[in-house]
Amino acid sequence: MKADENSNMESRGLTRRGFFKGLGVGSSTAALLSTSGSQSVHSGAGASDPVGPGEVPISLRVNNQSRKLKVDPRVTLLDALRNRLDLTGTKKVCDRGTCGSCTVLVDGEPAYSCSMLAVEAEGRKITTIEGLGSPERMNAVQKAFVENDAQQCGFCTPGFVVACTAVLTKNPDATLEEAQAGCGGNLCRCGTYAGMNEALMDAAKELKGGA
Ligand code: FES
Ligand code: FES
Repeated sequence: MKADENSNMESRGLTRRGFFKGLGVGSSTAALLSTSGSQSVHSGAGASDPVGPGEVPISLRVNNQSRKLKVDPRVTLLDALRNRLDLTGTKKVCDRGTCGSCTVLVDGEPAYSCSMLAVEAEGRKITTIEGLGSPERMNAVQKAFVENDAQQCGFCTPGFVVACTAVLTKNPDATLEEAQAGCGGNLCRCGTYAGMNEALMDAAKELKGGA
């Protein structure tokens, strides 16, 4: 599952430039990150009113539930999910948009939650690994990962499962190469790729009805 990092990020609509633009900082990244408390950012979904400084109330649609919380505008979606909503299945590894461990679905598309602000996620449909299935009712990809022992330390696994689910839901006829390319924004430091390849193909088979 080799991949060019930049093209993968761009294929997800995520570029470093896009992220900083998303922060609403323009040429003042340093200003946003300062602790003066005098800066503000703009919320997502096209809103033009600045939000912050200080915590602001937001409502996130996560796993088909409406969740209300208060966050500082600079809090990432990843931190909001893990630290405020206790959805710790989404993993924080690099925290800088390079590994894919924090992948969630945003309106059905895989996205790095460490590279998106929580305030930007308002009004979007967020799906985390917890929303794909449960130990009792795993989705096809979760089941295939378990059956093929496609993990070692497991830190990359939720992100891979989310990304693979997005790829195979859209195209269960994907070849192994196509499925690998679709998950190319995710990295496994343990090198569990052989098991994941098996899991990808088994999951595709199940999604196609066992054909
Ligand atoms: S933790 Fe988000 S890409 Fe690595
Ligand atoms: S299983 Fe350890 S990083 Fe993938």
